[in-house]
Amino acid sequence: MLQDLLGRRFYYLRLSLTEACNFRCQYCLPDGYQPEGKPQFLSLDEISTVAQAFAGLGTQKIRLTGGEPTLRKDIVDITSVCAEVEGISLLTMTTHGGRLAKLAKPLAQAGLQQVNVSIDSLDPRQFHAITGQNKLGHVLAGLDAALDAGLLVKTNAVLMNSTTQSTINQFLQWLKDKPITLRFIELMQTGEQGHFFVNQHVRAHSVKNWLLETGWQPIKREIHAGPAQEFMHEDYAGKVGLITPYANGFCDTCNRLRVSATGKLHLCLFSESGIDLRGLIKEGDVAGLQAKLKMLISKKAPAHLLHEGKSGATKNLAMLGG
Ligand code: GTP
Ligand code: 5AD
Ligand code: SF4
Repeated sequence: MLQDLLGRRFYYLRLSLTEACNFRCQYCLPDGYQPEGKPQFLSLDEISTVAQAFAGLGTQKIRLTGGEPTLRKDIVDITSVCAEVEGISLLTMTTHGGRLAKLAKPLAQAGLQQVNVSIDSLDPRQFHAITGQNKLGHVLAGLDAALDAGLLVKTNAVLMNSTTQSTINQFLQWLKDKPITLRFIELMQTGEQGHFFVNQHVRAHSVKNWLLETGWQPIKREIHAGPAQEFMHEDYAGKVGLITPYANGFCDTCNRLRVSATGKLHLCLFSESGIDLRGLIKEGDVAGLQAKLKMLISKKAPAHLLHEGKSGATKNLAMLGG
């Protein structure tokens, strides 16, 4: 079992498959962003090695992330390979959803169980303005395809100063009969945002108070769950979640580690620039990787640096899949 010096146990691996993304969400990748160079992302065999090493150390859940994971041509094979690893009981993916209409069924058949889709607005024009892509229709069709394929679906909306009460009301109305979990995420500061963060960052307190005042009940968090605090309501088919990285104690229940698309271990989303594991991964050295992970885990910091106005080496969340 991977456990750090604070007794935190790591059941959940976020594995990035690529840094590339064909969306340009305002809060993530700035307009005109061009990736540097052409890094070699982990191959199918390397992904299998990483998954086996973590699973052997108690990881139960893998989330495939990006950039945009569905840009990988071998995404269905990657899903099968991860699903087959002994000890992995939950295989999930975070995606912009633009390719799910075609991919949901083959991904589910390959062993994917859940999908988290980024949907920042249900208004097509606002969606286009935020993501740089006029594709709300595609994404909603993808979400329905995911539900039809039997996947559990969550959505992510980044909460910003420009998120109006009418945007929130529209989302909640949608949840009346959509059996999904919609999470509002506090905007996090990253290296490439410039003034965007300063102008747009808001805390989720008012949304939380409003949910509690309107009959939403908090739900107990499961052992390998992500960071959201979730709420349910008897009149709604869907649930609501809040992801509040700026809240005190947010990192105390951290159960996640990250491996980047180039094979670096990130002990936290906002810390060091990553510890290179590629040599061992390339050699398929599962035992060597496990020994290194056990040694490195003691270096995990108690909390991220966001409270100090720092985002470590994280230039944008596409680099590491959030
Ligand atoms: P579930 O397992 O389905 O609950 O998913 P998740 O919330 O763990 O994954 P998702 O990829 O949907 O992430 C939602 C948001 O939470 C993203 O903005 C992530 O960057 C953020 N997030 C997840 N883990 C951490 C973390 O350890 N630290 C911080 N600061 N943010 C995180
Ligand atoms: N702050 C908060 N959430 C972000 N995401 C991307 N960048 C940020 C940021 N700076 C979200 C995306 C996606 C998830 C992986 O992370 O909306 O849903
Ligand atoms: Fe948007 Fe995700 Fe692409 Fe970033 S990686 S631009 S959040 S879709």
